[in-house]
Amino acid sequence: MSMRLPVSNPDNKLPNIAIDGPAGAGKTTIARMVARQLGFCHIDSGAMYRAVTLLALERSGESAVADEGTAYLIARDLDIDFLTGTEGDLRVMVQGDDRTEQLRSNRVDRYVSVVASMGDVRKELVAKQKELAEDGGVVMDGRDIGTHVLRGAEVKIFLTAAPSVRVYRRLRQQRQKGVHLSWDEAEDTVVQRDRIDSTRRISPLKVAVDAVTIDSTHLMRRDVVSQIEFILASVIRCPNGG
Ligand code: CDP
Repeated sequence: MSMRLPVSNPDNKLPNIAIDGPAGAGKTTIARMVARQLGFCHIDSGAMYRAVTLLALERSGESAVADEGTAYLIARDLDIDFLTGTEGDLRVMVQGDDRTEQLRSNRVDRYVSVVASMGDVRKELVAKQKELAEDGGVVMDGRDIGTHVLRGAEVKIFLTAAPSVRVYRRLRQQRQKGVHLSWDEAEDTVVQRDRIDSTRRISPLKVAVDAVTIDSTHLMRRDVVSQIEFILASVIRCPNGG
């Protein structure tokens, strides 16, 4: 299905689309597909928290990754760029280097939610996220995009799936990279991240009151994309009110 770019809104800005949800729900893949279809920019906010975690692990090791002062300085100086690779895939540049694969390593998975619960880290990254979306035309995925970062987003999606499907997707994603996890290992990281993300004090994962929930357990990716495009079309108003 193809779609015309939305007609301008009163501010003459393209709309923003926020996609939140638990680990392994497919947010990044879907956000990428929606952005490509519409010619929008895709911002993977999780990659920012992952980048701070990766740099903290490299700088201080596992024993000191929870040091808030170090993580804050890394977040403050973070230079992150989202590029499109030759296959149309998302490449994440951190401090000028392509770190896409390392950002999704198991080690980063294990610590990212701890780093993401730090208030000063969140403040820095949220400011960058807001700046990236200020001109509109952005699809941003994460945990607090609809509830906090882009509270005014024209479309808010809460994308979820059954826990077993999310664990399976995580296993498959790692296997494609040649990393073989047991079911229990994959389940542990998914369950633990969800627990920390949903119970943290600052901007926990929750459904925005004005979000549409899509359960992708039994849906193909393209069907999820079509649903989001349909929702977008229904909220866009022509300048003449038509
Ligand atoms: O793609 P996946 O669902 O595995 O996670 P992600 O979007 O890459 O996010 C990794 C982690 O970053 C999450 O588990 C959260 O702890 C944190 N995060 C967050 O706190 N706020 C966001 N807006 C995005 C991610």
